[in-house]
Amino acid sequence: MASLRGGFRALSWANQLLSHQRPSWKCASCKIAPPATARSLRRFATTSEDASKPYYVTTPIFYVNAAPHVGHLYTMVLADVLKRWRTLIGDRDAQLLTGTDEHGMKIQQAANAAGIDTQAFCDRNCQTFKDLAEAAEVDYNYFIRTTEPAHKEAVQYFWEMLQHRGYIYTSKHEGWYSVSDETFYPQSQVHLSLDPATGRKRMVSIETGKEVEWSSETNYHFRLSAFTDRLLKLYQTTDFIQPTQYNELVVKSVSSGLSDLSISRPVERLTWGIPVPNDNSQTIYVWLDALVNYLTKAGYPFPPGEGSRLGWPADVHVVGKDIVRFHCVYWPAFLMALDLPLPRNVLVHGHWTMNKEKMSKSTGNVVNPFFAIDRFGVDIMRFFLTHRGGLESDSDYDNSYIIRDYKKHLQTGIGNVVHRTIGCAKGKLREYIVNATSGNSSASARDQADQARDQAYEDTLKNLARNVTSKMVRLDPRAAISELVRVIAETNKYFHHSAPWENPEEKQRVLFNVAESMRITGILLQPFMPNKAKELLDMLQVDLSKRGISSAIYAGDPDYGEDVKAKILFPPLIVEE
Ligand code: ME8
Ligand code: MG
Repeated sequence: MASLRGGFRALSWANQLLSHQRPSWKCASCKIAPPATARSLRRFATTSEDASKPYYVTTPIFYVNAAPHVGHLYTMVLADVLKRWRTLIGDRDAQLLTGTDEHGMKIQQAANAAGIDTQAFCDRNCQTFKDLAEAAEVDYNYFIRTTEPAHKEAVQYFWEMLQHRGYIYTSKHEGWYSVSDETFYPQSQVHLSLDPATGRKRMVSIETGKEVEWSSETNYHFRLSAFTDRLLKLYQTTDFIQPTQYNELVVKSVSSGLSDLSISRPVERLTWGIPVPNDNSQTIYVWLDALVNYLTKAGYPFPPGEGSRLGWPADVHVVGKDIVRFHCVYWPAFLMALDLPLPRNVLVHGHWTMNKEKMSKSTGNVVNPFFAIDRFGVDIMRFFLTHRGGLESDSDYDNSYIIRDYKKHLQTGIGNVVHRTIGCAKGKLREYIVNATSGNSSASARDQADQARDQAYEDTLKNLARNVTSKMVRLDPRAAISELVRVIAETNKYFHHSAPWENPEEKQRVLFNVAESMRITGILLQPFMPNKAKELLDMLQVDLSKRGISSAIYAGDPDYGEDVKAKILFPPLIVEE
């Protein structure tokens, strides 16, 4: 119960922020103005205000057919930033689930091709995804594998419930199947295409370009078409799909009609999967199996009344745009069929591309995320991916972009400001903090332009936590970190124009302001760059108890700055391009 109360406290702080009541802190001039989008924020804020259940965020479970690449790292980091944000606002109970998808034809074929026993193949490749989560410092609570017995039981139970409610029937299915996409396609969604590598003509999916094979078989179907209206209502009346452009695409596609979904394969075609209950001649379709993972770890089948306590419904499923249909159409329909609560949001992101082509395990145009982390450091990769990665659009990956951003925003941004601040204070930073927060600083005899600049800059700092919070509440970590980057650039300019080293009478106010910008930025950067943010806050001697969001307020911490020594936060990169 203690942890639930913790979560409630955190949320009440967020509410205070969003309803623009001023938390009590010392500086009387720090009133926070109402945000322009307060109403929309409150709407989104309802996604996380059920204090009776832990916050629950997920990544997709990744196929173990090949090693992870930077795209998988990106999704993991985004989900981790959402979770760490919750921790920052004081919610110690937030849950993050990641894991691996180990069934299906794709894995069966990859293991055969590698000449390894399929389970041993999964064990080996699963470990690489776990290693990646560790290397990226993803603070996950569970790592699920779909080959776990508990998951198999959850999937079979889920199936039996669908059957019991009359949503499953058998019929002949004819159409095209892509093993790479693990997807059935109707005739209208495939076309003949020439394989440039072999000169061979083959049928491919129009959407993904992956080869499809004809399948004609009797299997089980799910009455997806029965959910068209309820799904459309979901998209039209809630914020289920974020960002909204994906909502529009899904609405368009579902409005044009839904066919029932084939949800099993004959065992002669697919053995590596969960058998259909009471019918060993059929294996459950890998996507039905995979989606249930989000329930398995929430304790499904739930003891009566316990779904919420265990975290269900999920607050956010973070997914790439390649799997929107599965998460935004099939998954809510399955859940509706069983009257289970729906996840609150699906947060969709764009793809990382190499020379404008999607980075993909099966295409092989990938960047090894372990090498990238070794080369640049985990925090730098987390910064780059969240700052440059697009939710709405794709982003092209290149080492030169990482180096450019590192120099611009980190080395000459935060690194430079903190170094100059400490240098300019000449070992007396603490005095500046004490003077400002105890009201000892005398009004300076500065001209109006200087005063206006100070005022504008102080307003920026006063609004920073609220601005960043509103972006996180709107599920836009990219906008949140962009806001921090923008304020760092503004700080550099402010420092430069104020030139406190030349104007002793300005030094008090200016140095205090830039120190505050580093302290507040350090607090807000923690979910994005946990190690560098810690180094920064350690350097400024910010007490461990004052690193939560409620301290990210202008003049909100009178106690830091003792005995501060400058260290280099962002050293020159050793390997330059
Ligand atoms: O689809 N850019 O697994 P998967 C950004 N097992 N993100 C990318 C990416 C890229 N180029 N490539 C992959 C599956 N991703 C299923 C999921 S969930 C119940 C089952 C990320 O190994 C992105 O999150 O193909 C994408 O949705 C996911 O990896 C697909 O991983
Ligand atoms: Mg894929």
